[in-house]
Amino acid sequence: MTEDNPKWLRLILGVLPAERVRLDAESLEAFSHDETEDLQAFPQVVCVPESTQEVSALLKIAHAEGIPVTAAAARTGLSGGAIPVQGGIALSMERLNRIIAIDSANFQATVEPGVINQVFHEACKEQGLFYPPDPSSWGSSTMGGNVAYNAGGPKAVKYGVTSAYVLNLEVVMANGDILWTGANTLKNSTGYNLTQLMVGSEGTLGIITKIVVRLLPYPKHAFTLLAPFSSAQAACAAVAKIFQAGVTPSGLEFMERDAIEWTLQYVEGVSIPTGPEIQAHLLIEVDGFDEEAVLKEAETIAQVVEEAGASEVLFAQSAQERDAIWKLRRRVGEAVKKHSIYKEEDTVVPRAKLPELLAAVKRIGEEYDFQSVCYGHAGDGNLHVNIVKGAMSDADWEGPRLKQGIRTLFKEVVAMGGTISGEHGIGLVQREYLDIAFSPAAMRLQRNIKNALDPKGILNPGKLFPEA
Ligand code: LAC
Ligand code: ZN
Repeated sequence: MTEDNPKWLRLILGVLPAERVRLDAESLEAFSHDETEDLQAFPQVVCVPESTQEVSALLKIAHAEGIPVTAAAARTGLSGGAIPVQGGIALSMERLNRIIAIDSANFQATVEPGVINQVFHEACKEQGLFYPPDPSSWGSSTMGGNVAYNAGGPKAVKYGVTSAYVLNLEVVMANGDILWTGANTLKNSTGYNLTQLMVGSEGTLGIITKIVVRLLPYPKHAFTLLAPFSSAQAACAAVAKIFQAGVTPSGLEFMERDAIEWTLQYVEGVSIPTGPEIQAHLLIEVDGFDEEAVLKEAETIAQVVEEAGASEVLFAQSAQERDAIWKLRRRVGEAVKKHSIYKEEDTVVPRAKLPELLAAVKRIGEEYDFQSVCYGHAGDGNLHVNIVKGAMSDADWEGPRLKQGIRTLFKEVVAMGGTISGEHGIGLVQREYLDIAFSPAAMRLQRNIKNALDPKGILNPGKLFPEA
């Protein structure tokens, strides 16, 4: 650290020890990207606080000096939300990684934002408790990131997304104030719902430093089915019929043929029927406490999907087989990424409109000359549309025509009663489309909220809003 360093950096060294103020090239590089496409922007410094008080002290400096602060942890995001596009401070939450309490008497837990989702899930499971939100990245993504982007995952179809579990948050505001947003209660009609305002706010309204979630008893039995279809449309049409038969699966995933074929190259120990006659699969799971009742639900589903056109439905025969199928499903995103440069759209519509959504994706793709591979949380009407670059030229890939195609798709999605992101957030890559999701009055309200909580615009600047 020299006299040449800006004043704000010298002030930071007054509140954090030098080894947690990282300026080396490797640290700056690590915080310059997440899992989104091939985007990169470097912070000026990576700060690694270990307590709420340190976060508050850092924000007081950033607020006084007008320095951008972008919170990040595992950097597994898919909307570019953790990329520090305006430089400044990358606020690493990695050391705020304690499970503070698992309160089995009240079915609640308190964690810090840097706790890895799956680590928390397993710690709860050991006590017979269940934290359902399970994004595909759960092995590395953190609870803070999950809350900041309102993460979903396969289990959301029965159990709800992250927001359904968050009861209370400790947050450091832009000016360094520390506050709790609510109470550790299952119900709360006291004042504005600041807790849910923070959920999904992508680090633009405050920095989350503690999270209180509710828990459920861990289900004892599960059955997993795989249903191959010769038509992707028929697979999508089967989805709503399952619920109409009175069953709520604990997972209901759709995968187009290419998604499976590409992923099979990276995952060992899974055999899934593929071939020219199979265009898509539904991966379906049911769970519960009464084995017979769960099995009966699985049988009902098998009957419904067969009536809807599935060929032979496979039941996972062992826990190992079940894990292997889920491992394959969780790695689809990674496999697409390895296959080609791609853009990931996170469309979501009311469930019964899923066949209409898939048809729109393919029709618009033909019209605008883009190829897509689709997969996702069919039971939630949430389709991850991966537009693959393939043989497209760099100019076409970044050009106005593809953007126009995406815009057309998003407009149709909104016309169906859907929206432009179900679980990945807006971040950097979807902000230019936000006006499709909101009316001018609703956009104004969003901006007013941002201005009220972060008047200097230091928190994750350059995100969410089209003009930011
Ligand atoms: C998934 C991530 C990409 O569903 O949301 O695998
Ligand atoms: Zn997903």
